[in-house]
Amino acid sequence: MGAVIVTGIPGVGKTTVMDAAAKSMGVPVVVFGSIMFEAASAAGLVKSRDDMRKLPPERQKEIQRVAATRIAVLGDVVVDTHCSIKTPAGYLPGLPAWVLEELQPTAIVLVEADAADILHRRQADATRKRDEDTLAAIVEHQEYNRRFAAACATLTGATVHTIQNREGAVEDAVRQMAPVFPRRPASPTPGIKGAR
Ligand code: AP5
Repeated sequence: MGAVIVTGIPGVGKTTVMDAAAKSMGVPVVVFGSIMFEAASAAGLVKSRDDMRKLPPERQKEIQRVAATRIAVLGDVVVDTHCSIKTPAGYLPGLPAWVLEELQPTAIVLVEADAADILHRRQADATRKRDEDTLAAIVEHQEYNRRFAAACATLTGATVHTIQNREGAVEDAVRQMAPVFPRRPASPTPGIKGAR
């Protein structure tokens, strides 16, 4: 299948959709943010995954490079990550050239949702320290993600497939993703590395 990258802005539901996809389609999923968090917390840099995007951009890029190298050795996996990270210094590319060279993606799946739904999902998720964005800021971030995804596709030749994660319709989002994955038997113990 080659490596497949699944991206979407925080709270869009990409991890929820990929958990469901892992169960129904047996695809192996790695959460890039979890691998980064392992490296950053081991180095004493952060206490939570939400602290990482507040680090200086150069430090984020160092950890990003470490995570990409660790994931590259896993072979063809689905990587749950970000095209762009909203930092205090501006949008940081989640998939700069050195990450793409490691991952060699064949497809990029953009998970999108209605901005109001994303805002509501963030507000309802008490487990995280989410940024307080306006609806306009969420719309802008989704738009930036499309631009970053197009740049990644141009560099790698990967296809870009957009799916909608509508409220209460995770299984429908999984079905929209199916064309990206070849048929494979459902696995009772799908390999999700870094699941939260
Ligand atoms: P990461 O772990 O990816 O965190 P995140 O993007 O903040 O992920 P979230 O959990 O916030 O969002 P999600 O879209 O997965 O939504 P979820 O499924 O939880 O990354 C952590 C950090 O790592 C980043 O902030 C960044 O600093 C760093 N990082 C990662 N990749 C990087 C890279 N390449 N380069 C540099 N840094 C990187 O769902 C949210 C809520 O919505 C849940 O409560 C869920 O139940 C609900 N929900 C989901 N779908 C639906 C639905 N259809 N209907 C109703 N509710 C729904």
